Amino acid sequence: MNDLFDLTGRTAVVTGAKRGIGLAMAEALAAAGADIVGVSATLSPAESEVRSRVEAHGQRFHGYAVDFADRGAVLSFAETVVTEHGPIDILVNNAGTIRRAPAAEHALADWDHVLDVNLSSQFALTQALGRGMLERGLGKVIFTASLLSFQGGITVPGYAASKSGIAGLTKALANEWTARGVNVNAIAPGYIATDNTQALQDDPDRSRSILERIPAGRWGRADDLGGATVFLASRASDYVSGVTLPVDGGWLGR
Ligand SMILES: NC(=O)c1ccc[n+]([C@@H]2O[C@H](COP(=O)([O-])OP(=O)(O)OC[C@H]3O[C@@H](n4cnc5c(N)ncnc54)[C@H](OP(=O)(O)O)[C@@H]3O)[C@@H](O)[C@H]2O)c1
Repeated sequence: MNDLFDLTGRTAVVTGAKRGIGLAMAEALAAAGADIVGVSATLSPAESEVRSRVEAHGQRFHGYAVDFADRGAVLSFAETVVTEHGPIDILVNNAGTIRRAPAAEHALADWDHVLDVNLSSQFALTQALGRGMLERGLGKVIFTASLLSFQGGITVPGYAASKSGIAGLTKALANEWTARGVNVNAIAPGYIATDNTQALQDDPDRSRSILERIPAGRWGRADDLGGATVFLASRASDYVSGVTLPVDGGWLGR
C-alpha cells in the first residue's frame, strides 16, 4: 500500500521552495523519497532551510535563485534544469506573489507583475519541462492554485485572475497531456499562515471573519499541504488529472 506513495528515484522541481508552502511541499516530497531541485527569487544555492530539511531526509538538493517576473530567466533556468538534472519526474509550480489594492486604483504594473509570476511564467516553465515528460510518457505536474481559483477575493483582482487562470490551465494541459502519461493537477490551499497572508493575519477583523468560516476551526499550516502534494506526485494519483483539489479545512463547503 505504501508503495503507492513512494517517490524513490524521482526528481522534483519545486518553485517558491525557500519558504512557506513550497518549503513544506519540498520537504514532504523528500520524505517520500524524491530528490529536489528548488528555486525561488532569492534562494541561496549554497545554504537554505529547504536544503537542510531535504538533506535531513537523505535526499539530494540543488538550489537556484530565479526571478519569475523575468521570462528569459525562467526559460534559461528550464534549460539548466534539463542539462544538469536530466529528466524531471515531478514539477510543482508553487512560486507566487500577491499585490493588494482596490480594483479601481490597482496599478497596472502590479497586475502585470502578478500575472507574469503567477501564471505566464508557470506556463513557460511547464511547457519547457513538460516536453521531456511527454517524450518519456511519464510526469506529474502540480500547480498551486487558491481559493481564488473559485472565488473573487477582495482587493486582489490580479491575484484572483491569475489563480483562476491556473485552474483553467490545469484543465487545458490535462486534456492534452493525460493520455500521454503526464498528469496535471492543482492544489488550492485555504487560508494558510505564511508571509503571503501576513496582511490578513495582522487585520483583526479579517482574521476573525476568516477563522469563523473555516470548519476545521483553525488557519492552515504549510505542512497541511504535504499529503496532497505527495498524492498528486505519486502513482496513487495515476487516474487523477485536471483537478483543482482544495486543501482548505472545509472552507469551500460553507
Ligand atoms: N498562504 C496562503 O494562504 C495561500 C493560499 C492559497 C494559495 N497560496 C499560494 O501558494 C503559493 C506559495 O505561497 P506562500 O503562502 O507559501 O507564500 P510565501 O511564503 O510568500 O512564499 C512565496 C514563495 O514564492 C516565491 N516567489 C515570489 N515571487 C517570486 C518571483 N518573482 N520569482 C521567483 N519566486 C518568487 C518566494 O521566493 P523568495 O522566498 O525567494 O522571496 C517564496 O519562496 C503561492 O502561489 C500562493 O499564491 C497561498
